Amino acid sequence: MFAGERGAAARAYCAKRGFTAATIERFDLGYAPDSWSGLVGELEGNGVDLGLAAKAGLVKSGQRGYYDFYRDRLMVPTYATTGEVLAFGGRAIGDGEPKYLNTATTPVYTKGHHLFALNLARRAAQSDRTLIVVEGYLDCIALHQAGIENTVAALGTSFTAEQAAELRKYADYIYLCFDGDAAGSGAATKAIDIASNTLESTGSPVRIVTLPSGDDPDSFVRVHGAGEFRRLLDAAKPAIEFKIDAEIEQLRAGFDSPARIMPKAAGLIRRLAPREEWDRWVVYVANRLQVNVDDLRNSRFLADSANFAPRARNGMPESRHVSTSLEPLSFEREVVSILLEEPLLAVEYGERIGASRFSNAVYRRIYERIVGAAGGLRTTADVFGLFAEDQGILDVVVDLGRRDRSSAVRYGDSEERRAHLERVVERLRLNDERERYRELSHLIDERLTCGETVSEELRGEFETLVAKLKR
Ligand code: UTP
Ligand code: MN
Repeated sequence: MFAGERGAAARAYCAKRGFTAATIERFDLGYAPDSWSGLVGELEGNGVDLGLAAKAGLVKSGQRGYYDFYRDRLMVPTYATTGEVLAFGGRAIGDGEPKYLNTATTPVYTKGHHLFALNLARRAAQSDRTLIVVEGYLDCIALHQAGIENTVAALGTSFTAEQAAELRKYADYIYLCFDGDAAGSGAATKAIDIASNTLESTGSPVRIVTLPSGDDPDSFVRVHGAGEFRRLLDAAKPAIEFKIDAEIEQLRAGFDSPARIMPKAAGLIRRLAPREEWDRWVVYVANRLQVNVDDLRNSRFLADSANFAPRARNGMPESRHVSTSLEPLSFEREVVSILLEEPLLAVEYGERIGASRFSNAVYRRIYERIVGAAGGLRTTADVFGLFAEDQGILDVVVDLGRRDRSSAVRYGDSEERRAHLERVVERLRLNDERERYRELSHLIDERLTCGETVSEELRGEFETLVAKLKR
């Protein structure tokens, strides 16, 4: 409240920002007059211990005693959900610097642990367990005034894990609303990750609202109204889509050739999407980047994924044996059916074609068992015997034998089978080298762009690879 002569500046400022008297009251906005001793005098007059006021960050102690910390500022209090005032933000009236002065950590308030307006928003969130997070105090107040009352603000810092945990108590769904220009920034990405990690659940618990460039929620809602803002909420992207789109934009800006884009596209799907959604994102990403869907799906990074420990969503590498692609790759089928015909070859090739290369779990198990028993297996029937107890696998093996015998690709004799396994080994080696080549060129590019040096060792490896691949 800022009645009287001295409050005129704050009243004018609030009017300029379009805040109604009801809003000013609801948020308990106040004014710290342009004086070094306004609050100090007031507190002394009321017999309040100034040391205590200093602990709360309201006054500071200087050479000539205590003085007001907030001067000529619009005062915005933050309340605990239990009703006590925790902290203040003081916005300069006019162009004063800094724009906001915030309470630093005090005995009752830890910076980054609380959210502005949660005391009000949590009630509005009761019906649909949804909260909107904006960056600024005044953005938050403007949305409340427009009737979007399930809004909180992150409060003087970037969004923290503690704040996410606090929100989690009242909401299952969160909209992160960034200023138009901030949406692609590193801070935004961090906020998304923090929110996503805290609100792990099915559906899309975290969605990203992007405002038009140059707008913040306050300016947007003032010009376009609550209805338009709600349309932005409806159009908000799930966190995964937002991050994938952001990377797609970067790739598009890079004008890479399809050959160079492919591993990057596969990489971003691996990193950003959970395994069970890869198929869906492959189609999406391929279309957006105008590369072939099947090529991307079969990209070594995605299809032959057993060679790369996939990243789980929390950033921890998962076990190597999680890949579950349904269709075996052609080499997996070929290798297993050749060993079915001539199991003795497993002695020689088991080492050279590691089981970890198999992306199909069933084929990998078959291959591992055959290699494990290699030497003791002479005939196709011996191999069948290995799986006598496992009807599921036996079915696959029998079917494979039948299909290959009737198909055009038949390996007439031992020599042909061996030659084919050699080709497989060669192909895998070449793939590895190509992949390593891409990895290295990427790495070296990155180092050079950041102005870092590239070690002799890396350079050497790269040059050797280039020479090999040219052949
Ligand atoms: P903005 O500069 O976007 O503020 O900072 P805003 O809320 O839109 O303010 P107006 O519309 O210019 O009045 C967003 C938030 O970042 C923190 C505050 O929490 C602010 O609300 N901030 C910003 C500070 O803590 N200190 C600053 O100097 C600036
Ligand atoms: Mn603003």
